[in-house]
Amino acid sequence: MKLGIPREVTSEERRVACVPRTVEKLRKMGFEVLVESTAGAAADCSDAKYMEAGATIADSADGLWSDADVVLKVNPPTEAEVARMRAGQLLIGMVWPMTNEPLVSALAEQGVTTIAMDCVPRISRAQKLDVLSALANIAGYRAIIEAAHLFGRFFAGQMTAAGRVEPAKVLVIGGGVAGLAAITAARGLGAIVRGFDTRLAVKEQVESLGAEFLVLDFEEQGEGEGGYAKVMSEAFLEAEMKLFAEQAIEVDVIITTAMIPGRDAPRLITAGMVESMKEGSVIVDLAAERGGNCALTVPGEVVEHHGVSIVGYTDLPGRMPALSSRLYGNALAAMLDEMGGGEALTIDVENEIVRGALVTHEGRVTWPPPKPDAPSIAPDYSKDFGKRPETETPPADADAPAASGAMRGLTTLVGAVAGLALLVIIGLWAPESFSQHFTVFVLACFVGWQVVWSVTPALHTPLMSVTNAISGIIILGGLLHLSVASATAAIVLGLLAVFFATINIAGGFLVTRRMLAMFRR
Ligand code: NAI
Repeated sequence: MKLGIPREVTSEERRVACVPRTVEKLRKMGFEVLVESTAGAAADCSDAKYMEAGATIADSADGLWSDADVVLKVNPPTEAEVARMRAGQLLIGMVWPMTNEPLVSALAEQGVTTIAMDCVPRISRAQKLDVLSALANIAGYRAIIEAAHLFGRFFAGQMTAAGRVEPAKVLVIGGGVAGLAAITAARGLGAIVRGFDTRLAVKEQVESLGAEFLVLDFEEQGEGEGGYAKVMSEAFLEAEMKLFAEQAIEVDVIITTAMIPGRDAPRLITAGMVESMKEGSVIVDLAAERGGNCALTVPGEVVEHHGVSIVGYTDLPGRMPALSSRLYGNALAAMLDEMGGGEALTIDVENEIVRGALVTHEGRVTWPPPKPDAPSIAPDYSKDFGKRPETETPPADADAPAASGAMRGLTTLVGAVAGLALLVIIGLWAPESFSQHFTVFVLACFVGWQVVWSVTPALHTPLMSVTNAISGIIILGGLLHLSVASATAAIVLGLLAVFFATINIAGGFLVTRRMLAMFRR
């Protein structure tokens, strides 16, 4: 299976889909890797380094696009690149299907299978594939670096023989990934930082980074479906803007990252607020590409108004090409691994990560994916890549999901009846003490099952603490039981209880240790 990494042709793009370190990883997964000559030059990755990592250098783009079974890209393909692709080829990269409908249709017509990294569902299991968070993290950091570059003072206050320098005051609007990264970077440089977000859940995170969270005296929650931000009422936005108008007079730097997925950026900083800022102040508007949070932002440019610099760069991660390429490549490798890796690469529509990111397949547009809870109507597209499809679009069997749903219902009914019959038999024939214990056991299984499956992934960590506590109780119970038990069966059951509960506790500690290690410097 050949992976192709072409040179990005979009003007001024310095990133590349994979760095040599990722190539090594991909080779270990069983892929052959072709890299277009000079593809990584702007990201400090020479052809020689790629060759050392085991890649083959393709001298021409034509050769690479025709030889590769899978093409890995950063930016959405251009028209010319789509024209180079063939049916059955797999493309993995950023696609932005919501705003790129003609491109998506062209890819489907060409018979290309497309996985959009920007559409990977934001679920715990997919964290290592979450390129949006990885890039927003870089953008938030870089926003502070750009601001510091344009700002004429230190960020940290200083008391020197030559005079006192006040610390810079930074306001960060929006406490998502980019906002929190900006707060961390500004605090690292010693600034006084304030943060604001419509979601109060962010308060704790902002404060844990050493910044002050500005609270609005207004009763409206910013949390929408699934914990994401929702569109706020006009009255809330008005109150919020009043707060920003007061802050604009005081602060030296404003970083705006306020965004609601799939919407235009809310306009939060007016021309009047910019004019009220001190001369030499800086605004970095991360939402520039979606219309900007500031009324005076010009996407892609730095403009000056009343002595205030307004930065509207839309390529902040691309301004750190080596790091962006490395993290992006890691996510691509994780996606290829999720799909089976090497010769085993398949499109498994039952895999929620793959299905969530699947945009086109076998001549059809497959985006947006069906809602997670709804029964999937997607046909099983599982098949090897690199081969041209033998058949055209698989026949849609509209009755299949209904039939499988009815089958599931029947199985549940049979299971319930069998369970009930078993309980009645035990109730009639078993000794009373056994019946009591057995009833507690069945109820515990049922309650445990309900609790575990009803808890959202975001609460899995506290859930783990609770299960550890329960395991502790089980160990105590098991030990007490062992101290009085005389029958062999009772001893064996007691030992098993202690053994399994210990596995749960030890496993919990190991997972927690691993998680903590991720935060250690
Ligand atoms: P995110 O969705 O994680 O965070 C956005 C935050 O804004 C959320 O916490 C939300 O609650 C908050 N928000 C929404 N409406 C608000 C309002 N009216 N007032 C205050 N806060 C509000 O997004 P993420 O990943 O942090 O990215 C932030 C922005 O940066 C996005 O617009 C993204 O497109 C952009 N971005 C820009 C780049 C560039 O080069 N300029 C690169 C990467 C991301």
